Amino acid sequence: MSEVIKFIIDGKECIGQSDQYLLEAAANNGVYIPALCNYPGIKPKGSCRVCTVRINGKLITACTTKITDNMVVENKSDELEDMRKSILELMFAEGNHFCAACEKSGNCELQALSYRYRITVPRFPYLYPVRPIEVNKYLLKEQNRCILCKRCIRAIKNEQGKSIFAFKDRGYKVSITIDTELAAEISEELAQKAMDICPVGAIIKKRIGFAVPIGMRKFDKAEIGKDIEGKTQGVVL
Ligand code: FES
Repeated sequence: MSEVIKFIIDGKECIGQSDQYLLEAAANNGVYIPALCNYPGIKPKGSCRVCTVRINGKLITACTTKITDNMVVENKSDELEDMRKSILELMFAEGNHFCAACEKSGNCELQALSYRYRITVPRFPYLYPVRPIEVNKYLLKEQNRCILCKRCIRAIKNEQGKSIFAFKDRGYKVSITIDTELAAEISEELAQKAMDICPVGAIIKKRIGFAVPIGMRKFDKAEIGKDIEGKTQGVVL
């Protein structure tokens, strides 16, 4: 049975439930820990490492770590912030992220985080990959923008619980692929959910574009994390 416990982030005393993941517990206490592969309601995977914090001297992902009583967490240090920034820069260098021409601009979490971290040019050389674009009945998959977060694999399933997306190949060749048979059966709603759950512009629902104009989208209005910072919700029992 879970119980209410105390923990500390950057000197701030917080409370949460003993079975809660740190990322969520921190957010309930008004503390924003940047994250990319995590998505509320789906099991955390710890694949992007953007949410890395330091606990007892060790670097650890906040999305996969449950809080413990009197846990002391370091979230905002120059070292951690630079580490997160370098991960974001690697993602930009590894793919082709031409934000100005992307349907997801303004709703893209990678773009929003890069604004938060004031990224202009990555410290790593661009790889300019050339990866095929997959087109299905409702969906377009742009692998050149994919950050391999696995949100789509974990969350987009048909009525029988089968994943429509899967990993293909290994190592530097790894990519996300769409099961063409399952994708042909999906509803427009599920296609929209796939687009919405993708943190970048790698999964796009076809036919309707720019329904919400650029300039009026989520992160055009407020910096990522501002909806959490300083807004304590306490413990939800
Ligand atoms: Fe925690 Fe990606 S959000 S590892």
